[in-house]
Amino acid sequence: MEIIEFNQTRALLYEKAMTKYPNARVRDLSAMLEHLEPNKSDRILGFGEGNGYFCQSIANRVGVSGKYLVTDPSNYQLAHLVSRLSLPQVEIKQIGVEGLSVEPSSFDKVWSFGAFHHSSNKAEAMKRIYSALDYGGKMVVCDVFQGSVLAKHFDDVVAKYCVTGHDVEFLSNDSAKYLCKQAGFKDSNIQIIDLPQKWLFRSESGLGEFIYQLHALTNLPGNMAGKISQTVDSCRNILGVESVGAFYELNWPMSALIAYK
Ligand SMILES: C[S@@+](CC[C@H](N)C(=O)[O-])C[C@H]1O[C@@H](n2cnc3c(N)ncnc32)[C@H](O)[C@@H]1O
Repeated sequence: MEIIEFNQTRALLYEKAMTKYPNARVRDLSAMLEHLEPNKSDRILGFGEGNGYFCQSIANRVGVSGKYLVTDPSNYQLAHLVSRLSLPQVEIKQIGVEGLSVEPSSFDKVWSFGAFHHSSNKAEAMKRIYSALDYGGKMVVCDVFQGSVLAKHFDDVVAKYCVTGHDVEFLSNDSAKYLCKQAGFKDSNIQIIDLPQKWLFRSESGLGEFIYQLHALTNLPGNMAGKISQTVDSCRNILGVESVGAFYELNWPMSALIAYK
């Protein structure tokens, strides 16, 4: 039986984190705008959109003359998204990336943020992305990559303490390029760039609470205060936290796999 990773508890904690700290990920929004470049009338397919952090912004950019298909396999994540997003240019579907079934060549852009690693069939997923893209279309897959301190955070902390575990395989630069080529992208049309993301918090305890909730680290031992202080410690030790002006900046290093059909 397929297990929904983002079950009710995990989706509820994800929603709590994102609604209590709505500005923590503003630089992710900037990275999305810079690399996806959503424009008026674009036809965009998003997978693993979760509870919809990026969706309003993308939907506004494409406008009513555009089309935006928002997907995620978790009905619990989508329930939160649906409650906020109702626009004529938006269609919402409960499906994983490897199960995407859309008209071939019907999108200008396909994108995701922090979701591709969840796919249990990455080769099939990439083939479906390639098929969905129109000729000249752009894929932007922002994710955690092997060898980064972020991958270590997931493998050392999230896998151990998350309510659903975190049994995934991250892309490496080589495996990402291989998947793209297998799906049909030309070598010269594939690039991988660093996304040196930072997440911003007013306090270290806020940082701890956000990460605790976002990753549903309910299996950490101790009471709530202890769980949050262990989360802060592991963030400091593995990811790095820097005090800059009024903010604590949490290092969140990702990569973007960009390819044109
Ligand atoms: C870390 S969340 C990211 C959500 C959103 N993109 C964001 O940045 O806030 C990962 C999302 O990937 C989704 N996911 C899990 N398996 C997936 C799959 N096979 N295909 C697409 N998305 C998947 C989860 O349901 C979850 O909503």
